[in-house]
Amino acid sequence: MPATSSTHLQAATWLSPGRSKRLTPDLLSGQKALVTGASSGIGKAIAIALAEAGADVAVNFPASEAEAHEVVAQISRAGRKAILVQADVSQEEQVLEMFDRVISAFGTIDILINNAGIQRDASIDEMTLAQWNSVISTNLTGQFLCAREAIREFKRRGVVSDISISAGKIICVSSVHEVIPWAGHVNYAASKGGVMLLMKSIAQEVAPLKIRVNSICPGAIRTPLNRSAWDVPEAYDSLMALVPYNRIGEPDEIGWLAAFLASDLADYITGTSIYIDGGMMLYPGFESGG
Ligand code: BGC
Repeated sequence: MPATSSTHLQAATWLSPGRSKRLTPDLLSGQKALVTGASSGIGKAIAIALAEAGADVAVNFPASEAEAHEVVAQISRAGRKAILVQADVSQEEQVLEMFDRVISAFGTIDILINNAGIQRDASIDEMTLAQWNSVISTNLTGQFLCAREAIREFKRRGVVSDISISAGKIICVSSVHEVIPWAGHVNYAASKGGVMLLMKSIAQEVAPLKIRVNSICPGAIRTPLNRSAWDVPEAYDSLMALVPYNRIGEPDEIGWLAAFLASDLADYITGTSIYIDGGMMLYPGFESGG
């Protein structure tokens, strides 16, 4: 899809209704997933995709219960069970309570999607400690706390071969900014750079236990978090200078990748960052020159 003023608000046509037929419900059947930050954007799309692939899903949300209810309704329409769990992932007590609730409702957890994330942008000389701390706490400490609790449960339960070849899967939602520096967003880029080595170090540690840990690194995806980068034609057109494939990504595309990575089809994949970015990582500024 070319970057034109008239197309910036529309999803690619192949992403319209009927997409659920793209995932087969036996891919994750019998599996129990927890998706953090699942009430909107990428988390919402992943929660729905996992349900379409056959998993029951716990929908974590930080504040807006109304949005989270809508996600539960969509999961129910896919014929799967869903529960709502409110928790701020940066708070240890709330994370412990969330895992207790999910495990008592579902019996166990097979898949953790470490997705909850925020942006609090400011130039470096204007950035407050509160802006720094809130982003690091949610995006990095929150991923640590949830990964730790998931691994405790995976270790306790071990492999149940009827359900999955592995003892558990963690997918960290990172960003192209785990490697691309981002002026004006140093807290966000630092948090995602941290997620990269958090993920890889955990993956190395738990691989012998048959636990897989990977990251999905989205580029520009049409979500509320980055609305200002795509919702007016001028912004969309300048965003396209960074995307060789010349269109914005859709949340559902992240969902499909998460469903694949969580499934046994991806059983040999661990400790890897998968970029899903229309080529943003190809340094498009170097297309000519250099
Ligand atoms: C950020 C978006 C941004 C994208 C590409 C993502 O991690 O959340 O706001 O548009 O990276 O820069």
